[in-house]
Amino acid sequence: MLNGKTIILGVTGGIAAYKACELVSRLKKLNADVRVVMTKEATKLIGPITLRTLSGNPVVTDLFTDEPADLPVPHIALAQKADLIIIAPCTANIIGKLAGGIADDALTTIVMASPAKKLIAPAMNCEMWRNPVVQDNIAKLGVRSFEFVGPEEGMLACGVEDIGKMSKPRAIVKAAIKLLGENKETLTPDLHGQKVLITAGGTREAIDPIRFIGNRSSGKMGYALAAAARRRGADVTLVSGPTQAAAPEGVTVISVEDAKGMREAVLANRPGQNIIIMAAAVADYRPTITFWQKLKKENEVFELELSRTVDILAELGRTKNGTCLVGFAAETNDHIENARAKLSEKNLDLIVVNDASAIEQDSSEIKLIDKHGNVEEYPMQAKPQSANIILDKIISLIPRSPDPRLS
Ligand code: CTP
Repeated sequence: MLNGKTIILGVTGGIAAYKACELVSRLKKLNADVRVVMTKEATKLIGPITLRTLSGNPVVTDLFTDEPADLPVPHIALAQKADLIIIAPCTANIIGKLAGGIADDALTTIVMASPAKKLIAPAMNCEMWRNPVVQDNIAKLGVRSFEFVGPEEGMLACGVEDIGKMSKPRAIVKAAIKLLGENKETLTPDLHGQKVLITAGGTREAIDPIRFIGNRSSGKMGYALAAAARRRGADVTLVSGPTQAAAPEGVTVISVEDAKGMREAVLANRPGQNIIIMAAAVADYRPTITFWQKLKKENEVFELELSRTVDILAELGRTKNGTCLVGFAAETNDHIENARAKLSEKNLDLIVVNDASAIEQDSSEIKLIDKHGNVEEYPMQAKPQSANIILDKIISLIPRSPDPRLS
């Protein structure tokens, strides 16, 4: 199944390094040419000779050696030759180095010099995994097309049951096969031929020329969805409220300010869309009157009257016409119950539920509820990872004709 594929397996200094043996065996059984690269720390946990024997190839542990002798300028040649680089286990330290562009050993140098696809299987202590710096680094790598598998929940080396365990070698191999089986043009062109409209960010409802009512939405989830949908081959239009997020490559971005502008942009771009994902935090209320001159402070108390905005998603749900409609629910309590109500009231195919506290964060714990009532819960992970999970789910819900490029 992996005939003719060169896979670099990077092994870093986590307790799960011993599982690299099973991973090498599984990859070899599928006829991959496996080249193991170990960090110094990894060699303290497992012997290179074991991995050399199992892989049938020299193991690289040092940047400045002649090994593998069959390749000129070994680390660059290896980087160029690889179809895929798997790093399993991958520590927080290596994730940080890769996100920060540091190449100070054989593995990080090879990764930096390689155009191959990259698959990371993180393994670390649960608190390290939750550390915002680590999550930030994972989000950065996600944007740069690194793929992740795991970590899983389970008994950790430190003796607690929590998130941080490396995915099973079987799951890592499965993810590798999926990545290598994909068309070279995009990571996973399973949305090729699909038109996807995504909204992102928060809206700003003007009080006067200076002030507005807004919310804390960063737009990270909507932008991650747009980038992932594009990488998976979709024709993506992103209607965005004001955000700091960078426009994803190849995506048509329409910038709007308030709920009214967002509604107009969504309705104008709605025809022909196969999938609409409303990830934006649209204001539910706007000032009834917008003052055209700056308000001066006069009285001790200032009362502002607000009026309801149009619920764009509910409006789309009333005239769906076969479009797959996906909403978001940011809740502080009774998450599932509230989201189920929104799913049915707005006539959605899928609703993504997260806690309102995730709104500005790089990662979130999502739950997906589909129109059939199925509920799926996912552990805390970076938003680019959640984006792919949401897209996988959407794909499972839409009727599709086969992609002619893959036949
Ligand atoms: N939404 C919308 N138009 C609005 C308000 C919300 O399209 N005027 C969409 C959001 O983009 C999101 C979904 O509706 O996909 C849920 O929004 P949320 O604010 O969480 O829920 P509401 O339905 O507005 O209910 P409530 O604020 O009472 O929780």
